[in-house]
Amino acid sequence: MGWNTLDDIDLKNKRVLTRVDINVPVEDGHVTDATRIERIAPTIADIRAKGGSPVLLAHFGRPKGQYVPEMSLKPLVPALEDAFGCSVVFVERPSRDFIDAQASDAVIMVENTRFSSMEEANDPQMAQFLATLGDVFCNDAFSAAHRAHASTTGVAHLLPNCAGRLMQAELQALEAALSAPKRPVGAVVGGAKVSTKLDLLENLVKKIDVLVIGGGMANTFLAAQGADLGASLQEADLHSTARDIMAAAADAGCTVILPVDGRVAREFAAHAAHDVVALNADTSLEADQMVLDAGDASAAQIAETFGTLKTLIWNGPLGAFEIPPFDTATVAAARAAADLTNSGDLVTVAGGGDTVAALNQAGVAESFTYISTAGGAFLEWMEGKELPGVAALMQ
Ligand code: 3PG
Ligand code: MG
Repeated sequence: MGWNTLDDIDLKNKRVLTRVDINVPVEDGHVTDATRIERIAPTIADIRAKGGSPVLLAHFGRPKGQYVPEMSLKPLVPALEDAFGCSVVFVERPSRDFIDAQASDAVIMVENTRFSSMEEANDPQMAQFLATLGDVFCNDAFSAAHRAHASTTGVAHLLPNCAGRLMQAELQALEAALSAPKRPVGAVVGGAKVSTKLDLLENLVKKIDVLVIGGGMANTFLAAQGADLGASLQEADLHSTARDIMAAAADAGCTVILPVDGRVAREFAAHAAHDVVALNADTSLEADQMVLDAGDASAAQIAETFGTLKTLIWNGPLGAFEIPPFDTATVAAARAAADLTNSGDLVTVAGGGDTVAALNQAGVAESFTYISTAGGAFLEWMEGKELPGVAALMQ
């Protein structure tokens, strides 16, 4: 079982219905991060080089089946034209006649698929209609592959289908990181809450050799061992879950690394006065103290651990990286991972919204082996779940 690529299907004079994810951040009508648009450009270029004409399908925001003017894809056309280096024809209500009237190498962008409630319902009628708009279906939206919608799965079953270049790159990078990684393989799992990453932790401890837990999540694990962490973010109702995960890791031979020290402050604010304190089962902070970042000894231990690995998966920051200096451990660890990647000693794969922002802030995103464009889909893939958009491409 596998999926086709753009090389496996004849695209000459074909309208190639191409699902992309251009759900990019926009402020005041301007795209603030065009990464997702830039990363689909090779797919658009390859389809045209093979004599095809891409007809792009995408969602934007969560309009819930209604026409919401602020969620139109039309304002994104200039950013698409910049990234693709050619003009883009926008169509609000597409038809095959309209598409056939366009040049044989035209790039056509269809309005937000989620303006119809039939999209998220994966209504067969919508899938049938979409299938009339193309001769071939190409899915290049890995970051929307966790959604079983008409434009991601329904239509895939109705046309000859293939993965686009970005989908291909994402799947290959993620398979290299988790399905058949060079060992030892480790993961950094950070972020605020254990509750949002339970499935991830449970799956990872079975598959990897070392798990580094950071961020607010680490507080829950330390508190579960008896630490009193004052006003720190933590989930008291998950202490027994945290202990279960530690036990599962021990059973599976996965070493769990928790912070051994933390940067502690009394207010959640940039440049708040802070101390570095040791963290362990006996730690007792004052009632108004909060752990906002891992400390320097922890960052050094994490960097040293990276040196023992061949593959590293990264999801989530080690501290409140948006307020300096509580980005210190994340930046230090990210730089250590980047150095090992640059010297060819470590394969580094990162994904998830906050993660990429944190790695960009550390200035190391370029050095990582692969940065996924996916948030939710990256997590679900790492949780070991089948992604419907990928499953629909299996031949
Ligand atoms: C994303 O931005 O993560 C994807 O485009 C999926 O969007 P959704 O969470 O609204 O389905
Ligand atoms: Mg999302």
